[in-house]
Amino acid sequence: MTPNTADIGAILISSRSLDEYRSMFDLSDDDLSRRILDCPAGAAGFTAVVNRLGGDVTACDTAYSDAEHLTVVAAAEAERGNRYIRDHAENYDWTFFADPDEHARVRRQAVRDFAEDIRRHPHRYVAGWLPSLPFPDAAFDLVLSSHLLFSYADRLDRTFHLDAIRELMRVARDELRIFPLVESGTSVLCPYLDELLTDLREHGIDGEVVEVDYRFQKGAHHMLVCRRTGFP
Ligand SMILES: C[S@@+](CC[C@H](N)C(=O)[O-])C[C@H]1O[C@@H](n2cnc3c(N)ncnc32)[C@H](O)[C@@H]1O
Repeated sequence: MTPNTADIGAILISSRSLDEYRSMFDLSDDDLSRRILDCPAGAAGFTAVVNRLGGDVTACDTAYSDAEHLTVVAAAEAERGNRYIRDHAENYDWTFFADPDEHARVRRQAVRDFAEDIRRHPHRYVAGWLPSLPFPDAAFDLVLSSHLLFSYADRLDRTFHLDAIRELMRVARDELRIFPLVESGTSVLCPYLDELLTDLREHGIDGEVVEVDYRFQKGAHHMLVCRRTGFP
């Protein structure tokens, strides 16, 4: 049976770990020392852990408009995500995580890191709605965006993707990285990726598809790296 994102239900508020981010976005130590925006950051542990190590990361997500509620639902969301993965285990490559139990352990720890950090450092977690973010131009060196764009292409159309990427690039001084390029629960590349890359070029943004090491959702091995072309 061909898997479909509809199985997933509402957009998941997921909680990936720093190790997953490093691998999905091919992040070097040097990258981690830059001013970073993670959007949408959900309940990921990335902001908490990188800042604890001396970094400068800001998280942005619609869900931060009710942060108290989010710390309660994030744990349930991690369980919902893990249930989906157990039910569709054949669609995943079990090398990054040995098995669904390890996946559950890592995501639960990320939720704990997130929940503790958002209580202690709420200013690092900014409520924002793509495609319009509450940051000045070039406020960050590097912008990361995982598991919203392309992942939910069944319900977010090409215009939303174009507007969201242009907005993420507006707040990025150097570079935007987006992962993955396939829909959740499938190994099918976003059907309008080529057209979107053409649209972006017309707006002075060059998108390069780059293979990364992360192996989990089958077929999800590439990020899109966006930079300004200088034209028009
Ligand atoms: C699957 S999670 C990804 C979270 C994180 N990047 C990770 O990988 O763990 C998708 C997130 O997108 C957020 N979201 C949905 N629509 C959004 C929008 N228009 N602008 C910003 N965030 C949005 C949701 O609240 C959710 O937390």
